[in-house]
Formats: sequence, structure tokens, C-alpha cells
Amino acid sequence: MMRAGLDKEPSDVARMFDAVAARYDLTNDFMTGGLVRYWRRVVTDAVGAQPGEVVLDIASGTGTSSVPFERAGAHVISADFSLGMLREGARRYPDLSFVAADATRLPFADDSVDVVTMSYGLRNVREYAAALAEFRRVTRPGGRLVICEFSSPTTPAFRELYTRYIMGSLPAIARAVSSDPESYVYLAESIRDWPDQQRLATTIGGAGWRGVEWRNLLGGIVAIHRARA
Ligand SMILES: C[S@@+](CC[C@H](N)C(=O)[O-])C[C@H]1O[C@@H](n2cnc3c(N)ncnc32)[C@H](O)[C@@H]1O
Repeated sequence: MMRAGLDKEPSDVARMFDAVAARYDLTNDFMTGGLVRYWRRVVTDAVGAQPGEVVLDIASGTGTSSVPFERAGAHVISADFSLGMLREGARRYPDLSFVAADATRLPFADDSVDVVTMSYGLRNVREYAAALAEFRRVTRPGGRLVICEFSSPTTPAFRELYTRYIMGSLPAIARAVSSDPESYVYLAESIRDWPDQQRLATTIGGAGWRGVEWRNLLGGIVAIHRARA
């Protein structure tokens, strides 16, 4: 068993995801009571992928987050730096194009994609402001950014309750269902440590994106940030 720490050492993060790859999607469904499927539909609408567009799904994991864009007729690049997740994805979704890539050093040309989207990935990137600038570099002028990430419940009482859940109950549930329960301790800590909606929006703007806005889901447990290049 292994998990990354809050320093988010990239090799530790990648190894942690290697270890959970086989049961990643199943555990996601279980831990969110299926809500992740609804959140993915909201992301799909926010991305609004059009036939023929190039969509970069960075930190695509097993590729489950990429599937709706492919179904919309876009050309999807599913990129991740965990070889374990990529392998599981290639087995599960043989039609997707998987690429090994680090979010902070993308192997793509300037202005080469229409959309960059990232679901539940950015929180794991130590230099996330640099990653946002890298996403901007590869996106054509007028292209779009959609980031879906755990965020901060907007009412203080709910925030308090939620923090108790993720720090207490969630690791206990993970011990019952996950192949690597320790990684859920990291999940809880990284959610608690992550900037709230406004701070993330400011960082996205600072990376060269414009018109940054967000939508809260489930009272702010998840937020979807959108912006334009
Ligand atoms: C929680 S999973 C999300 C997977 C997928 N997007 C989804 O919605 O199910 C986070 C993914 O981010 C990837 N990741 C974390 N840091 C990364 C980085 N710097 N570059 C590329 N991928 C990264 C991990 O390997 C992992 O597959």
C-alpha cells in the first residue's frame, strides 16, 4: 500500500494511481453513491464538444472521463502520467487514444487543441498554476478550459460536516472497498488542502485564461470552472 503526501511528489502520485487503477471506477461509483455519473454529465455539457474538435482530457485516468467527448464525435486525447491507469484504460476502452503525459509538460504544440478538460486531476498536481499555463499554451485562441474538481462547500455548517466526513468516514469506507485504502487518506487531505472556488478562479485567470466562471455542484463539494483562451 502507498499513498502520496501533501507535497504531491509526482512519482508518488503516479505510483498511487498505478496501485488503484484496477478498481478505480468501481470505487468512485461506490464512494459517491453514483453521483460521479451525474457530475460527468454536467462536465460533458460544460465542455460542449463538437464533432471534429480536438479535446485534450488531461489526467484522464482509465478514460472514463473521456468517453462522452468521443461519443460527441470529437477527437479525444486521453493523457495521464500513471502507466497503470493508462494500461487499465487501454484494456477497457480500446477505441480511445491514450498518451503518457505530464500536465506540466505537455507533448503538444502551441494552439493545437480546441478544449482542455481535467476531471479530479488538478488537485493532484503540485505545480498546478504551471499546468494551467501549459493548458493555455496548447489551446487555440478562443478555445475552452473546463476543470472539474472537489471544492469547498459554500455554507459553513455544511463545510464542517463535510470535512468531518472526508477526514473520518471516507477512509473507513475505503478500507472496505478499495484495493488501496491509504490513498483515500491522501484524497481526504488533498481535498481539505485545496483552494476554494474563488482562489482557483484567480489562479486560472493568472495563467492567461479569460472569462473564468464556476458552477457549484452539491453545495460546492464539486465545482466546475470554465474559461476561454
Ligand atoms: C482521480 S483520477 C481522475 C481520472 C479521470 N479524469 C476521471 O475523472 O475519472 C486523477 C488522475 O490524475 C492523474 N495525474 C495526476 N497528476 C498528473 C500529472 N501531473 N500529469 C498527468 N496526470 C496526472 C493521475 O495519474 C490520475 O489518473
